[in-house]
Amino acid sequence: MSENTKPASGTPTAPSFGPASSMWGGRFAGGPAAIMQRINASIDFDQRLYGQDIRGSQAHCRMLVKQGIITAADGDAILQGLDQVLQEIESGQFPFRVELEDIHMNVEARLAEIIGEPAGRLHTARSRNDQVATDFRLWVRDAMDGMDAALQGLLKALISRAEEHAGTVMPGFTHLQAAQPVTMGHHLMAYVEMIGRDRGRLADARKRLNESPLGSAALAGTSFPIDRHFTAGQLGFDRPMANSLDGVSDRDFALEFMAASAICAIHLSRLAEELVIWTSAQFRFIKLSDAFTTGSSIMPQKRNPDAAELVRAKTGRVIGDLNALLIVMKGLPLAYSKDMQDDKEPVFECADTMELAIAAMTGMIWDMTVNEAVLEKAAGAGFTTATDIADWCVRALKMPFRKAHHVAGSLVKMAEDKGCDLPDLSLEEMRQVEPGITEDARAVLSVASSVASRTSFGGTAPERVREAAAAARVRWLS
Ligand code: ARG
Repeated sequence: MSENTKPASGTPTAPSFGPASSMWGGRFAGGPAAIMQRINASIDFDQRLYGQDIRGSQAHCRMLVKQGIITAADGDAILQGLDQVLQEIESGQFPFRVELEDIHMNVEARLAEIIGEPAGRLHTARSRNDQVATDFRLWVRDAMDGMDAALQGLLKALISRAEEHAGTVMPGFTHLQAAQPVTMGHHLMAYVEMIGRDRGRLADARKRLNESPLGSAALAGTSFPIDRHFTAGQLGFDRPMANSLDGVSDRDFALEFMAASAICAIHLSRLAEELVIWTSAQFRFIKLSDAFTTGSSIMPQKRNPDAAELVRAKTGRVIGDLNALLIVMKGLPLAYSKDMQDDKEPVFECADTMELAIAAMTGMIWDMTVNEAVLEKAAGAGFTTATDIADWCVRALKMPFRKAHHVAGSLVKMAEDKGCDLPDLSLEEMRQVEPGITEDARAVLSVASSVASRTSFGGTAPERVREAAAAARVRWLS
């Protein structure tokens, strides 16, 4: 717990606001119990909303002036005072006070200290309920934009490395058993697809987020002649939210941000798991740089893929954050309930965690060294071109695929019995299984010809991978 949430002994008092907060304390005689202050105050974490809170207040203030609800002189004093508050917070001089509960009241109380009475007019036609909903939407929107930019950086790394390794063969797996040769470029481009969808999910969620709750007031709207379209426009929202009850109680935008993050975290985790496997001594497919690994204090040979392991682990937090807010929101009656104050910490943790995980993954992808010789050897191990010989029998001998599959299976068994790979079988040996096999058939057994032949759209052939990477560049990086 930080200093400003630690209660003093006994009942804390607010120096300039009397025994109960003057923000809402008109009918309160005593101050809150210390434990009440601890459970109630959110300033320890919601101070992160200061920029959004001040922007929201400035927009609201301009609207109040424009509509003749407050005077231009009061409006100017408020706007100038808010600028000073912003500057105090940014320079680290702002006296955050726990007895003022949250960022909204901290900002307003300081404004009152700076400009005096006009500060009290800012909250006309507004409530903390629509205020916090507005601030939080603006914050999540910024977080979405930041995450989107970070994902673009990751896409750049993946696409660039995929282009570089469009022709680098490696084993493709199903059940983590060598299945058919693929290219490293193709494998990396699979993640480009996933991360591209993640960006799409963020963009979709952003569209739904981008409506303004401001002017919903406490829950029912207001009797003042406000202009919600104006404040919406000032804050970069597309329009005001249509229903004031929904305006103050909707947190779908936070849930959607975390849902998109959770799915993205799963993608990062799957890739991280592959990096962990690929760097192991048993695989040696890639090497991670010193920048993203650690040594062992006891085993000098070790180079541990800690960053990849931690990216994998962080997924748990992000999914947990999503779960936490889903459970907070479940069963809340309309409109605002204080439960909703607990929406922020999961979202902050989710955004921070994603920022770190995406940056670490981007660094690892740029830095990893691909062991092409190891990959090439591994690509052919485990009879990975068995499908190619079956396909050859279908094409050249007009065999039904089921029968061709059987022929290929017999060839695999023969190689297995002899302790060799498929390309090591002689033509004579292969003819014992299927007399129609010719020298041509042996050509398809090489890993290079196997990947080169997979030219179907979306397939692993190097030419297709280069095309896919070029298309991805246009789609995601331009
Ligand atoms: N700190 C509060 C929150 O984050 C602000 C809204 C308070 N509204 C209220 N009706 N008590 O939710």
